[in-house]
Amino acid sequence: MDEMEWCEMDTETQSLARAYDEKYRLGQYFKYRGWLYRPVVKALVKKANLRAGSTVLDVGCGQGFFTRLFADLGLKPVGIDISGEAIRSAQRDYCTSGARFEVGDILSLKYQGAYDCVFARGLSLYNTKEFNQRHDVTDALLACLKPGGMMIFGYHTNFCPRKKSESWIYHSYSDAKRHFSSYPDAKVYFSLRIEALLLGRYAFRFPFTRIAALISRITGVGGELIAFVPRSPLVAARNSSELDANRQAQ
Ligand SMILES: C[S@@+](CC[C@H](N)C(=O)[O-])C[C@H]1O[C@@H](n2cnc3c(N)ncnc32)[C@H](O)[C@@H]1O
Repeated sequence: MDEMEWCEMDTETQSLARAYDEKYRLGQYFKYRGWLYRPVVKALVKKANLRAGSTVLDVGCGQGFFTRLFADLGLKPVGIDISGEAIRSAQRDYCTSGARFEVGDILSLKYQGAYDCVFARGLSLYNTKEFNQRHDVTDALLACLKPGGMMIFGYHTNFCPRKKSESWIYHSYSDAKRHFSSYPDAKVYFSLRIEALLLGRYAFRFPFTRIAALISRITGVGGELIAFVPRSPLVAARNSSELDANRQAQ
Protein backbone atom coordinates (compact mmCIF):
# COMPACT_ATOMS: atom_id res chain seq x y z
CA MET A 1 0.00 0.00 0.00
CA ASP A 2 1.21 3.49 -0.84
CA GLU A 3 2.26 4.96 2.53
CA MET A 4 1.18 8.51 1.64
CA GLU A 5 -2.34 7.43 0.67
CA TRP A 6 -2.66 5.37 3.84
CA CYS A 7 -1.55 8.28 6.07
CA GLU A 8 -4.07 10.60 4.43
CA MET A 9 -7.06 8.33 5.19
CA ASP A 10 -9.07 8.96 8.35
CA THR A 11 -9.29 6.13 10.89
CA GLU A 12 -12.79 5.06 9.79
CA THR A 13 -11.61 4.73 6.17
CA GLN A 14 -8.48 2.85 7.29
CA SER A 15 -10.54 0.29 9.18
CA LEU A 16 -12.92 -0.15 6.21
CA ALA A 17 -9.85 -0.66 3.98
CA ARG A 18 -8.54 -3.32 6.40
CA ALA A 19 -11.90 -5.11 6.38
CA TYR A 20 -11.89 -5.20 2.56
CA ASP A 21 -8.22 -6.29 2.55
CA GLU A 22 -9.31 -9.39 4.51
CA LYS A 23 -12.08 -10.20 2.03
CA TYR A 24 -10.01 -9.70 -1.10
CA ARG A 25 -7.02 -11.66 0.28
CA LEU A 26 -8.97 -14.92 -0.14
CA GLY A 27 -9.23 -14.74 -3.95
CA GLN A 28 -12.04 -13.32 -6.10
CA TYR A 29 -14.49 -12.10 -3.44
CA PHE A 30 -17.39 -11.17 -5.74
CA LYS A 31 -17.82 -14.02 -8.16
CA TYR A 32 -19.00 -11.98 -11.13
CA ARG A 33 -20.12 -13.58 -14.36
CA GLY A 34 -18.67 -11.89 -17.43
CA TRP A 35 -21.53 -13.01 -19.73
CA LEU A 36 -24.01 -11.15 -17.49
CA TYR A 37 -22.10 -7.92 -16.86
CA ARG A 38 -20.25 -7.40 -20.14
CA PRO A 39 -23.50 -6.38 -21.98
CA VAL A 40 -24.50 -4.18 -19.03
CA VAL A 41 -21.26 -2.19 -19.20
CA LYS A 42 -21.53 -1.96 -23.00
CA ALA A 43 -25.10 -0.61 -22.65
CA LEU A 44 -24.01 1.91 -19.98
CA VAL A 45 -21.20 3.17 -22.23
CA LYS A 46 -23.59 3.61 -25.17
CA LYS A 47 -26.32 5.28 -23.10
CA ALA A 48 -23.75 7.71 -21.60
CA ASN A 49 -22.41 8.52 -25.10
CA LEU A 50 -18.87 7.54 -24.17
CA ARG A 51 -16.42 6.76 -26.93
CA ALA A 52 -13.18 4.86 -27.39
CA GLY A 53 -10.51 6.90 -25.58
CA SER A 54 -12.94 8.46 -23.05
CA THR A 55 -11.41 8.54 -19.59
CA VAL A 56 -13.23 6.75 -16.77
CA LEU A 57 -12.57 6.86 -13.03
CA ASP A 58 -13.92 3.64 -11.47
CA VAL A 59 -14.35 4.61 -7.82
CA GLY A 60 -14.17 1.78 -5.30
CA CYS A 61 -13.14 -0.55 -8.11
CA GLY A 62 -12.50 -3.50 -5.78
CA GLN A 63 -10.62 -6.22 -7.66
CA GLY A 64 -11.06 -4.43 -10.97
CA PHE A 65 -13.69 -6.57 -12.71
CA PHE A 66 -15.71 -3.59 -14.01
CA THR A 67 -12.63 -1.45 -14.72
CA ARG A 68 -11.39 -4.18 -17.04
CA LEU A 69 -14.74 -4.28 -18.90
CA PHE A 70 -14.40 -0.54 -19.68
CA ALA A 71 -10.85 -1.14 -20.97
CA ASP A 72 -12.10 -3.98 -23.20
CA LEU A 73 -14.43 -1.47 -24.88
CA GLY A 74 -11.53 0.84 -25.76
CA LEU A 75 -12.05 3.36 -22.95
CA LYS A 76 -9.23 4.52 -20.68
CA PRO A 77 -10.20 3.53 -17.15
CA VAL A 78 -8.41 4.14 -13.88
CA GLY A 79 -9.64 2.07 -10.94
CA ILE A 80 -9.13 3.41 -7.45
CA ASP A 81 -9.83 1.75 -4.13
CA ILE A 82 -8.83 2.26 -0.50
CA SER A 83 -7.95 -1.45 -0.21
CA GLY A 84 -4.32 -2.17 -1.14
CA GLU A 85 -5.21 -5.86 -1.45
CA ALA A 86 -7.92 -5.02 -4.04
CA ILE A 87 -5.49 -2.99 -6.10
CA ARG A 88 -2.77 -5.66 -5.97
CA SER A 89 -5.32 -8.26 -7.14
CA ALA A 90 -6.58 -6.00 -9.98
CA GLN A 91 -3.03 -5.24 -11.13
CA ARG A 92 -2.16 -8.94 -11.09
CA ASP A 93 -5.27 -10.08 -13.01
CA TYR A 94 -5.88 -7.20 -15.43
CA CYS A 95 -2.47 -5.65 -16.04
CA THR A 96 -2.64 -6.39 -19.77
CA SER A 97 -6.15 -4.96 -20.25
CA GLY A 98 -5.03 -1.32 -20.56
CA ALA A 99 -6.75 -0.40 -17.27
CA ARG A 100 -4.69 1.35 -14.57
CA PHE A 101 -5.20 0.84 -10.86
CA GLU A 102 -4.12 2.74 -7.78
CA VAL A 103 -4.83 2.96 -4.08
CA GLY A 104 -6.87 6.08 -3.50
CA ASP A 105 -9.61 7.59 -1.38
CA ILE A 106 -12.29 9.41 -3.35
CA LEU A 107 -12.73 11.85 -0.50
CA SER A 108 -9.20 13.19 -1.03
CA LEU A 109 -9.26 16.02 -3.56
CA LYS A 110 -6.75 14.36 -5.89
CA TYR A 111 -9.05 13.41 -8.79
CA GLN A 112 -10.89 16.69 -9.39
CA GLY A 113 -11.97 17.79 -12.85
CA ALA A 114 -10.07 15.15 -14.79
CA TYR A 115 -12.47 12.52 -16.20
CA ASP A 116 -15.13 12.13 -18.91
CA CYS A 117 -16.95 9.61 -16.75
CA VAL A 118 -17.00 8.64 -13.11
CA PHE A 119 -18.33 5.14 -12.46
CA ALA A 120 -19.23 4.09 -8.93
CA ARG A 121 -20.77 0.65 -8.48
CA GLY A 122 -21.53 -0.59 -4.99
CA LEU A 123 -19.31 2.07 -3.46
CA SER A 124 -19.37 1.50 0.33
CA LEU A 125 -19.96 5.21 0.95
CA TYR A 126 -23.48 4.70 -0.44
CA ASN A 127 -24.16 1.73 1.85
CA THR A 128 -25.76 3.97 4.46
CA LYS A 129 -29.26 4.69 5.76
CA GLU A 130 -28.73 8.42 5.06
CA PHE A 131 -28.38 7.74 1.33
CA ASN A 132 -31.54 9.58 0.32
CA GLN A 133 -30.64 12.78 2.20
CA ARG A 134 -26.82 12.98 2.08
CA HIS A 135 -25.17 14.45 -1.00
CA ASP A 136 -21.51 14.85 -0.06
CA VAL A 137 -20.42 11.62 -1.78
CA THR A 138 -22.23 12.33 -5.06
CA ASP A 139 -20.94 15.91 -5.00
CA ALA A 140 -17.37 14.60 -4.52
CA LEU A 141 -17.82 12.18 -7.44
CA LEU A 142 -19.25 14.86 -9.73
CA ALA A 143 -16.29 17.11 -8.90
CA CYS A 144 -14.00 14.54 -10.57
CA LEU A 145 -15.70 15.11 -13.93
CA LYS A 146 -14.59 17.42 -16.71
CA PRO A 147 -17.31 19.92 -17.70
CA GLY A 148 -19.92 17.97 -19.69
CA GLY A 149 -18.87 14.68 -18.09
CA MET A 150 -21.20 11.96 -16.87
CA MET A 151 -21.38 10.09 -13.60
CA ILE A 152 -22.75 6.53 -13.70
CA PHE A 153 -24.01 5.22 -10.38
CA GLY A 154 -24.63 1.50 -9.90
CA TYR A 155 -25.83 -0.23 -6.75
CA HIS A 156 -26.90 -3.83 -6.23
CA THR A 157 -30.27 -4.15 -4.55
CA ASN A 158 -33.54 -6.01 -4.55
CA PHE A 159 -37.05 -4.94 -3.70
CA CYS A 160 -38.34 -8.06 -1.99
CA PRO A 161 -39.31 -7.34 1.63
CA ARG A 162 -38.14 -10.86 2.66
CA LYS A 163 -34.54 -10.17 1.52
CA LYS A 164 -32.46 -8.77 4.38
CA SER A 165 -28.73 -8.45 4.93
CA GLU A 166 -26.75 -7.49 8.03
CA SER A 167 -24.06 -5.73 6.05
CA TRP A 168 -25.76 -4.38 2.93
CA ILE A 169 -28.58 -1.84 2.76
CA TYR A 170 -30.96 -2.66 -0.08
CA HIS A 171 -31.98 0.81 -1.24
CA SER A 172 -35.39 1.21 -2.83
CA TYR A 173 -36.06 2.85 -6.18
CA SER A 174 -37.67 5.79 -4.40
CA ASP A 175 -34.56 6.23 -2.17
CA ALA A 176 -32.48 6.56 -5.33
CA LYS A 177 -35.05 8.88 -6.97
CA ARG A 178 -35.03 11.08 -3.87
CA HIS A 179 -31.23 11.16 -3.69
CA PHE A 180 -30.77 12.11 -7.34
CA SER A 181 -33.68 14.57 -7.44
CA SER A 182 -31.16 17.21 -6.26
CA TYR A 183 -29.24 16.84 -9.54
CA PRO A 184 -30.70 18.41 -12.68
CA ASP A 185 -31.22 15.97 -15.55
CA ALA A 186 -30.27 12.88 -13.51
CA LYS A 187 -32.09 9.75 -14.72
CA VAL A 188 -32.64 6.77 -12.43
CA TYR A 189 -33.42 3.20 -13.53
CA PHE A 190 -33.57 -0.32 -12.13
CA SER A 191 -32.37 -3.25 -14.18
CA LEU A 192 -32.27 -7.02 -13.68
CA ARG A 193 -29.19 -6.89 -15.98
CA ILE A 194 -30.51 -9.52 -18.38
CA GLU A 195 -32.40 -6.77 -20.28
CA ALA A 196 -29.06 -5.27 -21.32
CA LEU A 197 -28.23 -8.52 -23.05
CA LEU A 198 -31.46 -8.34 -25.05
CA LEU A 199 -31.95 -4.60 -25.53
CA GLY A 200 -28.55 -2.92 -25.16
CA ARG A 201 -28.76 0.78 -24.25
CA TYR A 202 -32.59 0.65 -24.59
CA ALA A 203 -32.68 -1.43 -21.39
CA PHE A 204 -32.46 1.87 -19.54
CA ARG A 205 -36.04 3.06 -20.13
CA PHE A 206 -38.77 3.68 -17.55
CA PRO A 207 -41.24 0.98 -18.70
CA PHE A 208 -38.50 -1.65 -18.29
CA THR A 209 -37.61 -0.22 -14.88
CA ARG A 210 -41.24 -0.71 -13.78
CA ILE A 211 -41.37 -4.31 -15.02
CA ALA A 212 -37.96 -5.16 -13.49
CA ALA A 213 -38.96 -3.64 -10.12
CA LEU A 214 -42.19 -5.68 -10.08
CA ILE A 215 -40.31 -8.91 -10.86
CA SER A 216 -37.76 -8.15 -8.13
CA ARG A 217 -40.52 -7.44 -5.59
CA ILE A 218 -42.37 -10.68 -6.34
CA THR A 219 -39.49 -13.11 -6.84
CA GLY A 220 -36.69 -11.56 -4.76
CA VAL A 221 -34.29 -11.59 -7.71
CA GLY A 222 -31.68 -8.84 -7.41
CA GLY A 223 -30.69 -6.14 -9.86
CA GLU A 224 -28.97 -2.81 -10.20
CA LEU A 225 -30.09 0.69 -9.42
CA ILE A 226 -28.51 2.76 -12.18
CA ALA A 227 -28.32 6.53 -12.37
CA PHE A 228 -26.87 8.73 -15.11
CA VAL A 229 -25.92 12.08 -13.60
CA PRO A 230 -24.48 14.76 -15.90
CA ARG A 231 -22.18 17.38 -14.42
CA SER A 232 -24.49 20.32 -14.94
CA PRO A 233 -23.20 23.91 -14.62
CA LEU A 234 -25.42 24.31 -11.52
CA VAL A 235 -23.80 21.39 -9.70
CA ALA A 236 -20.32 22.50 -10.82
CA ALA A 237 -20.98 25.97 -9.38
CA ARG A 238 -22.28 24.46 -6.11
CA ASN A 239 -19.16 22.27 -5.89
CA SER A 240 -16.73 25.06 -6.56
CA SER A 241 -18.29 27.42 -4.00
CA GLU A 242 -18.22 24.61 -1.40
CA LEU A 243 -14.58 23.92 -2.28
CA ASP A 244 -13.69 27.60 -1.88
CA ALA A 245 -15.42 27.61 1.51
CA ASN A 246 -13.47 24.47 2.54
CA ARG A 247 -10.17 25.98 1.40
CA GLN A 248 -10.86 29.19 3.34
CA ALA A 249 -11.74 27.17 6.44
CA GLN A 250 -8.40 25.26 6.28
C1 LIG B 1 -19.03 -3.47 -2.32
S1 LIG B 1 -17.39 -3.16 -2.88
C2 LIG B 1 -17.67 -2.89 -4.61
C3 LIG B 1 -16.46 -3.13 -5.44
C4 LIG B 1 -16.66 -2.98 -6.96
N1 LIG B 1 -17.04 -1.65 -7.34
C5 LIG B 1 -17.69 -3.96 -7.46
O1 LIG B 1 -18.77 -3.54 -7.89
O2 LIG B 1 -17.41 -5.16 -7.37
C6 LIG B 1 -17.11 -1.49 -2.27
C7 LIG B 1 -15.70 -0.98 -2.53
O3 LIG B 1 -15.65 0.43 -2.20
C8 LIG B 1 -14.32 0.69 -1.71
N2 LIG B 1 -14.31 2.00 -1.01
C9 LIG B 1 -14.92 2.30 0.16
N3 LIG B 1 -14.70 3.59 0.50
C10 LIG B 1 -13.92 4.12 -0.49
C11 LIG B 1 -13.35 5.41 -0.71
N4 LIG B 1 -13.50 6.42 0.17
N5 LIG B 1 -12.61 5.63 -1.83
C12 LIG B 1 -12.42 4.60 -2.72
N6 LIG B 1 -12.92 3.35 -2.55
C13 LIG B 1 -13.67 3.10 -1.46
C14 LIG B 1 -14.07 -0.54 -0.82
O4 LIG B 1 -12.73 -0.72 -0.49
C15 LIG B 1 -14.65 -1.66 -1.67
O5 LIG B 1 -13.68 -2.26 -2.51
